[in-house]
Amino acid sequence: MSTKTATITFNDGKPAVELPVLSGTLGPDVVDIRTLYAKSGVFTYDPGFMATASCRSAITYIDGDKGILLYRGYPIEQLAVQCDFLEVAYLILNGELPTRAQKDEFVSIIKKHTMVHDQLTRFYNGFRRDAHPMAVLVGVVGALSAFYHDAMDISDQYHRDISAHRLIAKLPTITAMAYKYNVGQPFMYPRNDLDYTANFMHMMFATPCERYEPNPVLVRALDRILILHADHEQNASTSTVRLAGSSGANPFACISAGIACLWGPAHGGANEAVLHMLEEIGDVSRIGEYIKRAKDKNDPFRLMGFGHRVYKNYDPRAKLMRETCHEVLNELGLHDHKLFKLAMALEKIALEDEYFVERKLYPNVDFYSGIVQSALGIPTRLFTAIFAMARTVGWIAQWNEMISDPEQKIGRPRQLYTGAAQRDVVPIGQRG
Ligand code: CMC
Repeated sequence: MSTKTATITFNDGKPAVELPVLSGTLGPDVVDIRTLYAKSGVFTYDPGFMATASCRSAITYIDGDKGILLYRGYPIEQLAVQCDFLEVAYLILNGELPTRAQKDEFVSIIKKHTMVHDQLTRFYNGFRRDAHPMAVLVGVVGALSAFYHDAMDISDQYHRDISAHRLIAKLPTITAMAYKYNVGQPFMYPRNDLDYTANFMHMMFATPCERYEPNPVLVRALDRILILHADHEQNASTSTVRLAGSSGANPFACISAGIACLWGPAHGGANEAVLHMLEEIGDVSRIGEYIKRAKDKNDPFRLMGFGHRVYKNYDPRAKLMRETCHEVLNELGLHDHKLFKLAMALEKIALEDEYFVERKLYPNVDFYSGIVQSALGIPTRLFTAIFAMARTVGWIAQWNEMISDPEQKIGRPRQLYTGAAQRDVVPIGQRG
């Protein structure tokens, strides 16, 4: 029971209202306003949820000022170095890191779900060859709802677990198929002798005529991208998944809604934007011109991959991704490649420039993950789909947490109405 309270007073004669204040394990306290309307007849106004905790959650914690990101209490720096993606997925889903036996069992379960129903492959033929992979993902992941009537009872934890496993296992297959469809190559079946990320790279880069031999440095790099993007608290796409799920919608439909939200350039599209920007700058000699444009208030141009809404001192994921970026460029001998040379020069110049230093505009995770994915041979238009693959773990864990929460209600925000006051319809012939 909360002992802290907050009192809201009104200057229009309404009586003051005392509200409980709730404390979490970490982070700011929250004022529990659930009874505010009943007690006072007012709503709160918070577009963009800048000051609203929309749920209780025990999954991810972020302290943007200190540059802290924890999954289930574990710092991202430790998870990224000591675990692989499926271990992190297990942690996010279940709350604890797996033992060796639990991990083996989880890996085996995921492997058993990697293939998609053969009928599902026909959906792809309905898309144009140049369909954006995110358009394909929104459609095909939503369409999974039509295939799994055997486990659609969302009140049954066992059914929820099966859906989570299916989604985590099939997202790489569906994403790689979107790529193969774009380039006109046959779909590659999953190889269950490979680990999760190596298998994804096989489905991307192998053909029926040529095997893909996984390079451990490159597989580890992509695996790290997946770990760093697996969850990020109540961001726009996660909140979308929760809101869609609050009506009782099935998990495939909810994840498809999350994918749609992630597609927006203000959310998952930044790493793609980094590559477009580097291509536009084109040469080290033009960096000065673009830095000048980024500082010009009358020019809408911003340096993509710099700055963050939450991490105001540094993005802990960016530090890890930077390391990976250099490992990959070394492994592939790409440090002298024009695009990557340009990226490194831009990073150096921006980090030393007073404008960026003063405003704490450091390269964010997307700056480096865009470069890494490009070096791995992943086409730019697939970057957000890979983000969706990783974030599926967070989305489904958050969805599951919401369904199990006894305080969960259908999401139904109210509004500050600014339209016409009530009026009467005038017959059409009498309207001026
Ligand atoms: N290039 C140039 N100036 C910038 C940039 C940038 N990338 N980012 C912020 N600024 C300036 C901005 O003009 C403002 O200057 P002033 O105080 O003189 O008016 C100041 O820095 C603060 O900017 P803001 O817009 O108030 O900061 P914000 O927290 O609203 O924006 C941001 C954060 C990420 C939207 C922004 O930094 C940005 O647009 N960055 C480029 C896009 C990008 O890389 N996005 C990916 C973020 S990571 C995604 C994830 O975590 O999933």
